[in-house]
Amino acid sequence: MAPGPARLAVELIHGAHGTMVENSEEMIAIARGRLMQAGLDSRWKVLQGDAFNLGGYVQPGSFDLAYTFRFLRHFRTPEREQLYANLRQSLKTGGHLVFDVVGDVVYQQVEARNPQRAAGEIAIYDVTYTAQSFSEEMERNGFEVVKLHPILKHFTMQSLLSYKLDDVIGPVIPAALAAIELLPSGAPLEWVAVCRKR
Ligand SMILES: C[S@@+](CC[C@H](N)C(=O)[O-])C[C@H]1O[C@@H](n2cnc3c(N)ncnc32)[C@H](O)[C@@H]1O
Repeated sequence: MAPGPARLAVELIHGAHGTMVENSEEMIAIARGRLMQAGLDSRWKVLQGDAFNLGGYVQPGSFDLAYTFRFLRHFRTPEREQLYANLRQSLKTGGHLVFDVVGDVVYQQVEARNPQRAAGEIAIYDVTYTAQSFSEEMERNGFEVVKLHPILKHFTMQSLLSYKLDDVIGPVIPAALAAIELLPSGAPLEWVAVCRKR
């Protein structure tokens, strides 16, 4: 759902067929072009449509997996609940929903460090969670959380390394970031959540 320019679809390796529902004509044109270039156009049906009316485009109970990134997080609770309900309805029982979830701890730290937005910067809403509050939200909406995959587990250190030391030790930064990512943490920047329809 809401795939934009098919940023992720062209990276995924699988043998399945899928349906994309995206609102923007411009994004659909880019997505179709990228899918064709990647040789994936026969695998994806790309539909123009509104995620708030998902049932108008896809059959209820017809999908094993739904994913959406950089989308649900930008909506307030009533809209998210509507979107969860639509996604839930499109999934088979036991089907999975995968999406990105913003961690509250690091988000608040970043906000505290940058209380003023840069001139011209648009304020974009992100809902944030602890692992517990996320699990509760998904339970309330008919899903169980199967797994939370942490992304950027030590964001402060990792962002300092990549922004401040890029000129000095640029070539070794990716390896250093990956090594830091191996260290455990309870407060990543984000998670990729894998949830199952109950
Ligand atoms: C921030 S972009 C993310 C795109 C993509 N998921 C990614 O991670 O690269 C959000 C996308 O949602 C689409 N969108 C916004 N509202 C929508 C809606 N009601 N139904 C379907 N798509 C929508 C926008 O056109 C845009 O392509």
